[in-house]
Amino acid sequence: MYQAARGTSDILPEEQPYWHYVEQKAADICRLYGYQRIDTPIFEDTSLFSRSAGEYSDIVQKEMYTFEDRGGNSLTLKPEGTPPVCRAYIQHGLSNRPQPVKLYYITPIFRYDRPQAGRYRQHYQFGCEAIGEADAALDAEVIEMSWQFFKSLGLTRFSLQINSIGCKQCRPGYLVELTEYYAGYRAELCKDCKTRLEKNPLRLLDCKQAGCQRLADAAPRNLDYLCFECKEHFSNLQKYLEILSIPFEVNHRLVRGLDYYTRTVFEFQPEEEGSQSTLGGGGRYDYLIEELGGKPTPGIGLAIGIERTILNLKKENVRVPILPGLKVLMTNVGEETRDESMKIAAMLRREGISATSTAGGKNLKAQLRQANSLGVRYAIIIGENEVKTGTVTVRDMADSSQKTVPVSDLVSFIKKEA
Ligand code: HAM
Repeated sequence: MYQAARGTSDILPEEQPYWHYVEQKAADICRLYGYQRIDTPIFEDTSLFSRSAGEYSDIVQKEMYTFEDRGGNSLTLKPEGTPPVCRAYIQHGLSNRPQPVKLYYITPIFRYDRPQAGRYRQHYQFGCEAIGEADAALDAEVIEMSWQFFKSLGLTRFSLQINSIGCKQCRPGYLVELTEYYAGYRAELCKDCKTRLEKNPLRLLDCKQAGCQRLADAAPRNLDYLCFECKEHFSNLQKYLEILSIPFEVNHRLVRGLDYYTRTVFEFQPEEEGSQSTLGGGGRYDYLIEELGGKPTPGIGLAIGIERTILNLKKENVRVPILPGLKVLMTNVGEETRDESMKIAAMLRREGISATSTAGGKNLKAQLRQANSLGVRYAIIIGENEVKTGTVTVRDMADSSQKTVPVSDLVSFIKKEA
């Protein structure tokens, strides 16, 4: 028997109220903060992603779904949403619009990850990008927006961590210090960290191995090596977050897994778990647009994992609204009444009332059982008598009461009762 591919899953109808709820809240918060929706293709040129995330990032090294199309082009399924939005910003000349350009997306993301709870090979992200402004006030607004998003969903048990990882001026000096520090402990590092020490020393700070974590705690802090401008930017960000009453913690080990970040980085963690379950994260990427061929343009954004958000809604027992279901099931008692039943169902739908008529040769009792399990509000019974008199019997499934209603009054009866 076929199964969904490893690390992917079907979202069945009973799960959809959660998805609808989260997507609706995402659209609401974006409207409040002036973000407009953008949708980019599912695949792009492979080099768009490899140039953005960094040659030695986990995404590029191990996680991309890359394939060659029939024309010999190397394409990759979107492993994250930021580079496609930056590509679209450049391609469509969005730098000519008032800056910052604020865009959001809800998109499937593909990463060849090791599947486990909250970690999938296809997941969905709600992401936002604000491009064209370097001021820390925008960083604070992006962070506040994500905070308010989680709050608006009804989540309470999460926290925010922030850090600054500097810019082209100050980071190289810090990396020299960091590499020197770790070189003294080379023998104690895990296998991956030995490679990181050569290729991407910043990532040493966010290794999950206990031994490496102890070393990271005592490592030189990026914050102590920031240039004047980066220091000022970070202290402004903290000031603005305080003004906005957003509680945060500075975590000097927070570096994120993508190489394009500069200055601000941040993550939202659920309270009771570690970084494997990060709800969302993001940061500044002031060189990315230029790196991709555009004019020098600063940007900041974040993405939130929708599956992980839903897992946390369930953990916190947040009740989400049920989706409106079918209102009416038209029953029939055989060929003679079937035509009439279909006609009435069509009339109701044209009036905006959801309705369908039973098919097949089930007896009335079975049709009423079907109405019950479908959860409809009304089962409408139409027998030969009703056809003759131009009426129907409306059965309210909530209390099993029945009323005879002329077909000509049916629409107003149902609309009034609802
Ligand atoms: P990211 O931290 O790689 O950032 O992913 C964002 C969020 O997606 C994570 O915090 C997590 O909730 C969710 N996520 C990541 N991988 C998985 C997975 N395998 N299964 C389930 N959920 C997952 C980015 O992608 C950046 N593009 C964010 C950004 C936007 N930075 C600036 N702008």
